[in-house]
Amino acid sequence: MKKTSLVFLFVYLCTNFNLSAQTAVSINLNAANAKTVISKDIYGQFSEHLGRCIYDGFWVDPAMNVPKKDRIRLDIVDALKKINIPNLRWPGGCFADEYHWRDGIGPREQRPKMVNTNWGGVVEDNSFGTHEFLELCSLLGAEPYIAGNVGSGTVEEMAKWVEYLNFDGVSPMANLRKQNGREKPWKVSFWGVGNESWGCGGNMTPEYYADLYKRYATYARNYPGSPLKKIASGANSWDLNWTEVLMKNIPARDMWGISLHYYTLPTGNWGKKGSATVFAEQEYFNTMKNGLAMDSLVKKHSAIMDKYDPGKKVGLLVDEWGVWTDVEPGTNPGFLYQQNSMRDALIAGSTLNIFNNHSDRVRLASLAQTVNVLQALILTEKEKILLTPTYHVFDLYKVHMGAKLIPLDFISPDYVLGDQKIPAVNASASVDSNGVVHITLVNLDPKKKISINTALNGLKWSGVTGRIVTSPKFNDFNSFANPNKIVAASFKGAKKTGNQLKVELPALSVVELELK
Ligand code: AHR
Repeated sequence: MKKTSLVFLFVYLCTNFNLSAQTAVSINLNAANAKTVISKDIYGQFSEHLGRCIYDGFWVDPAMNVPKKDRIRLDIVDALKKINIPNLRWPGGCFADEYHWRDGIGPREQRPKMVNTNWGGVVEDNSFGTHEFLELCSLLGAEPYIAGNVGSGTVEEMAKWVEYLNFDGVSPMANLRKQNGREKPWKVSFWGVGNESWGCGGNMTPEYYADLYKRYATYARNYPGSPLKKIASGANSWDLNWTEVLMKNIPARDMWGISLHYYTLPTGNWGKKGSATVFAEQEYFNTMKNGLAMDSLVKKHSAIMDKYDPGKKVGLLVDEWGVWTDVEPGTNPGFLYQQNSMRDALIAGSTLNIFNNHSDRVRLASLAQTVNVLQALILTEKEKILLTPTYHVFDLYKVHMGAKLIPLDFISPDYVLGDQKIPAVNASASVDSNGVVHITLVNLDPKKKISINTALNGLKWSGVTGRIVTSPKFNDFNSFANPNKIVAASFKGAKKTGNQLKVELPALSVVELELK
């Protein structure tokens, strides 16, 4: 056979039969351009009165034999403190627009019961209310992010809640708070004006909501020492018109941020979303493709915001994101309980890289939801608790919180399946206040490891250490029988050669590197 034919055959075989088990990529880190601070609030969490997130999650039966303060489960608190969760969004979600805060204060036995019509029609006994939530935040060392009720509440109701929370003086609401045992205001700052007002929060048009926002936000007062960061209820995924109308009609000075909700559906179909643990490679590929769409989604909404707010004063806040699958067989469909696999870890790592890389506009995000709901960090089964693969990714990425983003440029090799392809590698990097550089890398390819060669322009460093979250199969998961199948482990695949960083990134992995 002639030499040219051999070359042709080799290229043909590599392309069509996936012969090459390894691909190389070169990444440039421009440390001199590290300017934008990655807001720690990108690493925020969401906890709704939904299924077993609050009740039988954070807030348990007094008889349950687990460490508790009041009824707050402390093993959960300890696990979340280890990953430094910066903020916690509450009480919803859809529940927020049915929640009347005065039902959740005062002696618990006198609190009225209600039906949680959004989530399973179960009885909500209001035992977990304002004081309990703020106690939880204080135990966690996390800032509260409260979503007020626009859909079924009044302007007065929202205004009084803010007064109850934040006013330090003599007033009807401050006095009521004191009667209920809390002398000093909590100084809540993140304040959501409704939730999904285009859907479960009232089925409004953006024009109508923009007017309502201004009305509700006017009376949600900034009390002395407690300025609110007011957040408009933003778009459903690709609804760019919602963002456009809000940005056009609400002055930038009157909102701290505008939210965006985007869920990754494995099949892309709300009717049959796909199982959390039983899926083949095509569904894995589709999930990754749908998850990576977050990048263009953020770019598109940001471009609209740039037209009205070129100085980027208003943040884009992705305050609901994550993988949404079918519920676990045999569980209440209204409780949204799903397992969490290596696939979730890869979505978490990729999404957090996207948020870091857009931190000039993305200032807060909330994974949905912290415990026992959707892409949870923690699952519980009676007294047992397990940390999901997603939790371990947040543990790896906590180093980026509050650090300065280092811009990267590289061309990723493709992960190819049939006639479709997506980038196999994504990454982000930052430098912290001690000058330590961290790089987080994700390899989505289930078969190929990838060699990375990194030029570290303008950086002085003497060595590298790393941690990894990986597993042989994309649908591996932590079960209550085997809770530590996927954990963060030490990573030995990175080395310094001259001033070059060389990394062997295993298939299906999320890696965090520290350069000192
Ligand atoms: O996170 C579950 C639900 O998803 C929230 O309640 C709602 O805001 C969204 O539709």
